Amino acid sequence: MSSVVSYEVINNVGVIKVNSPPVNALSQAVREGILNAVQAAQKDESEAIVLMCEGRTFIAGADITEFGKPPMEPSLPAMLAVLESSSKLVIAAIHGTALGGGFETALACNYRCAVPSAKVGLPEVKLGLLPGAGGTQRVPRIAGVKAALEMITSGNPVPAAQANDMGLIDEVLAGQDLQAEAIAYARELVESGALHNRVRDITIDPASIEPGFFDNYRKQVAKRARGQIAQDRIISCVEAAVNLPMDEGLEVERKLFSELITSPQSKAMRHAFFAEREAAKIKGLPKDTPVRDIKKVAIIGSGTMGGGIAMCFANVGIPVQLVELNQEALDRGLGVIQKNYSITVKKGKLSEADMAKRLALITGTTSYDDIKDVDLVIEAVFENPDIKKEVFTKLDATVKQGAILATNTSYQDVNMIAEATKRPQDVVGMHFFSPANVMKLLEVVRGDKTADDVLSTVMQLGKKIGKVCALSRVCYGFIGNRMLTGYGRQAHMLLLDGATPTQVDSVAEKFGMAMGPLAVGDLAGLDIGYKARQALAEKPDPRTCIIADALVESGRLGQKSGAGYYKYDPATRARQADPEVEQLIKDKAKELGITQRDISEEEIVDRLFFPLINEGALILEEGIAQRPGDIDIVYLYGYGFPVAKGGPMFYADQVGLQKVYDRICEFRDTLGADFWQPAPLLEKLAKEGKTFADWAKENG
Ligand code: 3HC
Ligand code: NAI
Repeated sequence: MSSVVSYEVINNVGVIKVNSPPVNALSQAVREGILNAVQAAQKDESEAIVLMCEGRTFIAGADITEFGKPPMEPSLPAMLAVLESSSKLVIAAIHGTALGGGFETALACNYRCAVPSAKVGLPEVKLGLLPGAGGTQRVPRIAGVKAALEMITSGNPVPAAQANDMGLIDEVLAGQDLQAEAIAYARELVESGALHNRVRDITIDPASIEPGFFDNYRKQVAKRARGQIAQDRIISCVEAAVNLPMDEGLEVERKLFSELITSPQSKAMRHAFFAEREAAKIKGLPKDTPVRDIKKVAIIGSGTMGGGIAMCFANVGIPVQLVELNQEALDRGLGVIQKNYSITVKKGKLSEADMAKRLALITGTTSYDDIKDVDLVIEAVFENPDIKKEVFTKLDATVKQGAILATNTSYQDVNMIAEATKRPQDVVGMHFFSPANVMKLLEVVRGDKTADDVLSTVMQLGKKIGKVCALSRVCYGFIGNRMLTGYGRQAHMLLLDGATPTQVDSVAEKFGMAMGPLAVGDLAGLDIGYKARQALAEKPDPRTCIIADALVESGRLGQKSGAGYYKYDPATRARQADPEVEQLIKDKAKELGITQRDISEEEIVDRLFFPLINEGALILEEGIAQRPGDIDIVYLYGYGFPVAKGGPMFYADQVGLQKVYDRICEFRDTLGADFWQPAPLLEKLAKEGKTFADWAKENG
């Protein structure tokens, strides 16, 4: 009856099947197909209707590609109204993920059944939106206000069993044969004379909500929303579900959904959604590029990074061996892993049994002979080129042919490391971020000789271990750390020019960064950069490091020593401004002959973020990154850049490249040309009135 929706009657149950790959999103054709099928079912011999999907998942939501385009009939609310007013019972049968508009469709049915592996959720907040098809009105009516708020403001999906406990799923099926089990469930409902349940008929007693509840919830959520507005609008909708009749609540929801869908925040977050998926694709590599089978992994070095990387593999059931210099280092590394898992268990996020399973997958050795037959090795030893080359020479001599040899180096030349082996085609960079078991970003670094199947394997494996991958070519610091240099430098120079650490960090945090640059320095340890600078043959410009050096030399290494740019409360780790540091900054400015002045918030924002954009433009021009969206993904997932601004390159397009270019020229003229030179690509695009997005389209 439709190319994407079929309908047939089986055992007196009308079965509507959506088949619209990849995720059965609610495109116009799907909406129309479901609506027509429900209407057809009203007139035939069926006694109940089952709505289910083919392929990997139940409906995963509205079709995001239709957002921002002229609306096409039938609308989603119109389709749901037809479902909800069906004279025959409608049962949603869920597998995979019922998300957003997909779950809202299920909520408009009379009953919901699901296979045990299914998940349901309302992830709209992650796109800067709210559920716009009744989700904010129906979930609180079924699951209660608190659970609904938690589910909708977090956007996190809920597994079938939990959804069943919450009342959102009526029946968890065996999950062997979805269609047969759903039909049997429908027959059971018909035969037992089950009620024609409609969620809209449930009312919430406003007296059951304690006074001030919503105000308190707003305050609580605002803290983690980092300036995003969708959470606040979601709370208003749930408030309406309590205080207003269903149709009026739906109107509030529709009005606020329309506000959000045109908001710059949602546009940025939708960009991030598609950029993330695009970043996983390597230009010029066909989709069917073969992948190597990765069954066993070895990690060289069980320090800060090695341990976290090992956990990533054990978490998905892949056995991993850690190789260390000696037993003592190995024991220390394994001990840290054990401690990290125990903390997760204590937080109630992992069972003892699962911890034991994961720990059993991680073993240690001090001999390379024990890792001869692994399929992938990731080197995470000290950041020293000679040690890295030595490790790769050894790996080349011991590990089986065909294995992938990866390095987690932050800065070293992957080509040079590859040349230490006789198989440079098997060498690749896998740059994880710290803590590696938590941070989502994986920069995949393509050496000049890296084989295509190595790249496709690593991209696929990255996704398997829960990472978001972005491809970088070889350069000093790859995409992320290379861009960070200018950002960190300006943070430091702003201090010399007259801003305080609190001012710099709070402006960055108000912009939406997870943490300001100086506070990040304190967290990571100021001694790391200090040591790196000491090792440089040429001394860096004192304007870029004089304060940081002085802090380290006075024993202020950051949080670990209780003080850095700030003082830290030993109990809470809360940061406090320190007059001593403010005096030190003044002294150092004087020493360098810098006259301090008041610095505006606008200047701080532009001086911190425009260097990111400018370096990003160079990186694009040099072909280090494939697309501006990839750079955005690196910053969103690796550096705490606010998703509601879409990443530095998307942000640049929103600000306007002409404005960014002009401001960089202004800084060049007022602050000095040594650190402010507009990138040729930025200049070119600004002059042509174009955006980075235009560049991406023109460059395929
Ligand atoms: N609309 C359009 N395309 C979508 C989509 C959607 N809702 N969801 C996924 N896709 C596309 C992706 O862009 C990707 O396309 P590509 O192959 O061309 O890159 C393809 O489907 C596969 O997606 P994934 O790579 O993400 O596949 P996974 O299997 O890893 O994940 C998923 C599947 C969990 C469903 C994940 O895609 C997802 O989370 N999708 C978004 C769900 C969502 O946000 N839904 C709410 C939409 S807003 C809404 O419903 C508003 C309503 O309240 C009115
Ligand atoms: P670390 O000093 O914590 O750990 C290094 C470990 O390697 C030590 O346990 C050491 O005993 C071991 N080791 C040294 N030589 C070895 C050898 N020849 N064989 C086996 N083991 C050996 O260092 P960290 O921080 O884990 O860094 C490792 C690598 O990861 C470096 O290249 C670093 O640049 C990179 N990296 C570090 C990040 C961080 O935030 N710490 C982030 C991303 C990458």
